This record gives sequence, structure tokens and C-alpha cells, in this order.
Amino acid sequence: MTKILMVCLGNICRSPLAEGILQSKLDHKLFSVDSAGTSSYHIGNKPDPRSIAVAKQHGIDITKQQARQFIKQDFIDFDIIYAMDNSNYDNIIALAENDAQKSKVKLILNESVPEQNLDVPDPYFGGDNGFEKVYKLLEEASEKISQQLNSLT
Ligand code: 4NP
Repeated sequence: MTKILMVCLGNICRSPLAEGILQSKLDHKLFSVDSAGTSSYHIGNKPDPRSIAVAKQHGIDITKQQARQFIKQDFIDFDIIYAMDNSNYDNIIALAENDAQKSKVKLILNESVPEQNLDVPDPYFGGDNGFEKVYKLLEEASEKISQQLNSLT
């Protein structure tokens, strides 16, 4: 089982979408996908209603998810950790205890737009429109990730 973790700040907008989208593209018997937030702000909450709505428009149900905070044990439990933006990346790396742990952490948009270190923009304080943009960026990156992972099996 290859285990993948999606991480943003609150675990209510971007990483729940990333979890749902990538999960929809992988064989559940071979891969598991989870998500977490670097902050404690929304622990226990469901995804933001705007993320739930945009996922639903694309046929993906993320309503069963519940926000949790990223913990150091995640470096042990997961094989690949995708940060949604550079700030999330820095916050995760700061918790790593060795280079092997650091090497598990990647910026998700480097999968679709290599080496540019682009951010998935934080849509929390914007309008609904921002969520469709986030969905599109995550769909493109998840498609690349799933092609890589499925080619290994
Ligand atoms: P997320 O979005 O990191 O994509 O889940 C945010 C959610 C909540 C906050 C910031 C970003 N907040 O400041 O509460």
C-alpha cells in the first residue's frame, strides 16, 4: 500500500479537494490518500461548503472528511506528502527530523508545472470562483500523479 498525504493550512479547502480528486483516480486496494492541515484552526470540521460544492459538481463526494492537524508521525505513516503551497511546505519541513523525512515532502503543483514551485492559491477569503480555479489546478496535478503511480503498478 502506497500512502499519500495532502497538506494545506486549514485542511478544509484545498487539501480535502486534493484528497478526493486523487483518490478518485487510484485503485483503493493499492493506494490510500489522506489530508491534514498545518494549523489547528479547524480540527474536527467538515470541508468548507464551497469545496464540497465544487467537488460535487465534478462528481466527487468529500462530505465524509474531517479536518485534522499534521503531526510528526505522518512522516512515518506516509510515503509521499504533498504541500499545497510554499508556506505549508516550509511548515512541514520544519517538523522533519532527518533528510529521509524531508525527501517525502513535495509541492503538489511541481507535478503539473515542474520546477516552478507554484502555490495552489488559498481560496478561503475569496469568492466561489477561487474554488473552481483550485479544483482545476488540483485536477491537473492529480492526473499527473496518478499517471506516475499507476505506471508503477
Ligand atoms: P485551506 O484554506 O488551507 O485550503 O484549508 C484555509 C482555511 C482556513 C484558513 C485559512 C486557509 N483560516 O485562516 O482559518
